Order: sequence, then structure tokens, then C-alpha cells
Amino acid sequence: MSRAAPLSPTIERAGGDDLDDVMEIMAAAFDPRFGEAWTRAQCAGILPMMGVSLLLARIGGEAVGFSLMRRAADEAELLLIAVRPEASGRGVGGMLVDRFIADQQAAGAHHLHLEVRDGNPAVGLYSSHGFAVAGRRHKYYRGTDGELFDALTMVHKV
Ligand SMILES: CC(C)(COP(=O)(O)OP(=O)(O)OC[C@H]1O[C@@H](n2cnc3c(N)ncnc32)[C@H](O)[C@@H]1OP(=O)(O)O)[C@@H](O)C(=O)NCCC(=O)NCCS
Repeated sequence: MSRAAPLSPTIERAGGDDLDDVMEIMAAAFDPRFGEAWTRAQCAGILPMMGVSLLLARIGGEAVGFSLMRRAADEAELLLIAVRPEASGRGVGGMLVDRFIADQQAAGAHHLHLEVRDGNPAVGLYSSHGFAVAGRRHKYYRGTDGELFDALTMVHKV
């Protein structure tokens, strides 16, 4: 099967003024069945906190993806990552993960963490960027119809 050509977005630091773009991508990318998406209030609440940063991937000015992360001392956590479905599978998510790793390593983080729903295809993306499964949180995500899903915790030592 042929694959769509990779995209080459710019990836830039973003902030509270970019929440409309973030929430639009969030709504389009996450399947509400699984309860993984954050609310606008959750995003707005965490952004001003120390060590938290947001990256937006743009193509020709249009936001196509974002990542949200937090660092404390030598640990960093990838809190959220999403790419618009129409741009997915073309390397943007991988670029955002690479940038997370490079930025946090440059800032002094050596232990990178994330958690992801067991069964989310993003597990493959994280594994191919050096993350390994370190644990499981049972019934961590609650979907819209009340169904519960396990989370995997993943770690990358850099
Ligand atoms: C996860 C996500 C950010 C990946 O972004 P992307 O731009 O599609 O990622 P890339 O094109 O760089 O990489 C795709 C790789 O990720 C994996 N992958 C991620 N999502 C996938 C999907 N829906 N179907 C198949 N593979 C997927 C595959 O391993 C694939 O590897 P390959 O290129 O060797 O086939 C995007 O699919 C998304 O927004 N998903 C919904 C939100 C989400 O679940 N986020 C993760 C939890 S916070």
C-alpha cells in the first residue's frame, strides 16, 4: 500500500492564546469513546504551571498538531500529543515526539515518562522512539459510556 508523503511542519512554542487551535485538534483527534482527551479548563489550568510547555506544529500557518509536556528537575512527562486526522500518518506525531525528547534532554531531563491507553496505536509510535512499557494502571481511563480502560506507563532514559 502506498503511503502519503511526509509533512514538514514548523514546530514552535505556544501558549494560552493558542488554546482554540489546541482544542480544535483535540476534538478532531481523540475518539471520545476512550476518555483520553482533556477539557479546555484542564489545559488552561496547567499551562501557567512551572515547567509546563506547549508545542504547536503548523503547516502554512494552520495548526495540525500539538504536544503538551511538563518538566521537574531531571524528569519530564509527555502529557498529551495529537495530530489532526487528515494530517495523521505523515510523520508529524513523530516530529513532535522527537522534539519533546530533544528539548527535555537539553533542559536537563534524563527520565522521560508518559502514559497511554492500552491499545492506543500511539504505543507503537512511542516504542519506535525509545519508550518502553514500565507499568500498568488498571481502569485508568473512563470512556463516555462509562467503560474503563487500562493505561500503560512508558519510560525513556536519555
Ligand atoms: C498518536 C498521533 C499523535 C500520531 O501522530 P501521527 O502524525 O499520525 O504520527 P506519525 O505519522 O509520526 O507516526 C505514525 C506511527 O505512529 C503509530 N500510530 C499512531 N497512530 C496510529 C494509528 N491511528 N494507526 C496506525 N498507526 C498509528 C504507528 O506506529 C505509526 O508508525 P509507522 O509510521 O511506522 O506506521 C495521532 O495518531 C493522534 O493524534 N492520535 C489521537 C490522539 C492520541 O491518541 N494521542 C496519544 C495519546 S496522548
